[in-house]
Amino acid sequence: MTMLEVCSVNCFYDNVQALWDVSLKVEEGEIVALLGANGAGKTTLLNTVTGLVKPASGHIAFMGESLDGVKSHEVLEKGIAYLPEGGRLFPDMSILENLEMGAYPKSLWNSRKSSLDRVFEVFPLLKERRKQMSSTLSGGEKQMLAMARGLMSNPKMFLMDELSYGLAPIMVTEVFNIVKRLKEQGITVLLVEQNVHQSMEIADRAYVLENGRLVLDGQCNILLDNDYIKKAYLGL
Ligand SMILES: Nc1ncnc2c1ncn2[C@@H]1O[C@H](COP(=O)(O)OP(=O)(O)OP(=O)(O)O)[C@@H](O)[C@H]1O
Ligand SMILES: [Mg+2]
Repeated sequence: MTMLEVCSVNCFYDNVQALWDVSLKVEEGEIVALLGANGAGKTTLLNTVTGLVKPASGHIAFMGESLDGVKSHEVLEKGIAYLPEGGRLFPDMSILENLEMGAYPKSLWNSRKSSLDRVFEVFPLLKERRKQMSSTLSGGEKQMLAMARGLMSNPKMFLMDELSYGLAPIMVTEVFNIVKRLKEQGITVLLVEQNVHQSMEIADRAYVLENGRLVLDGQCNILLDNDYIKKAYLGL
């Protein structure tokens, strides 16, 4: 089943076009990487899916149902979690309070206790430290918390923007291992990354965005061997 379908999306900021006729698909159970340099339009694309940015034209559907004009909190309620660039935690809130923010829509709030139990199983450290202010966590721990907060909505699909950015190599491996675990639990993942090599190693397929246009896509094992990818993105 197709989880997410983005169809011919064009997007502008004032009169500057940020996305040009972008189409992509994510199938159920896949990890798909969306790659591209700074300013390529990766965040903009995720924002169009989550209802934060309204495309000028084009369509977006989730599990066959249109997301056109659907508000952010409704997108979350439909089963799409979003880890925004930089994590966007609430620094003056505890870990527990940050997690509860992941279940703020009414339909999710009532089941937040069982969601917490589920999330703490994946992140036992957060359970231990649930009263601690999120501002006191390390960079890697903050990204763990941001992932955990996303999982509080019990999503079918998880969009993650630059999950590994700024993390030490060992933490990069750790957060990507969690992404693989989420896939095993049946969560479909769309991963925006600048860490091209490692994200292609955990992803099934990838799309490459350049200056707002998709220029390449395919199976990661094939793309890793693609001459253009090697030269432009892997420094080989
Ligand atoms: N709120 C905004 N107002 C005006 N222009 C914007 C806005 N957000 C993004 N842009 C522009 O749209 C283009 C795409 O930006 P976007 O943030 O989607 O890229 P990105 O691929 O996520 O980049 P990065 O890797 O740096 O996060 C860029 O040229 C950017 O300057
Ligand atoms: Mg971005």
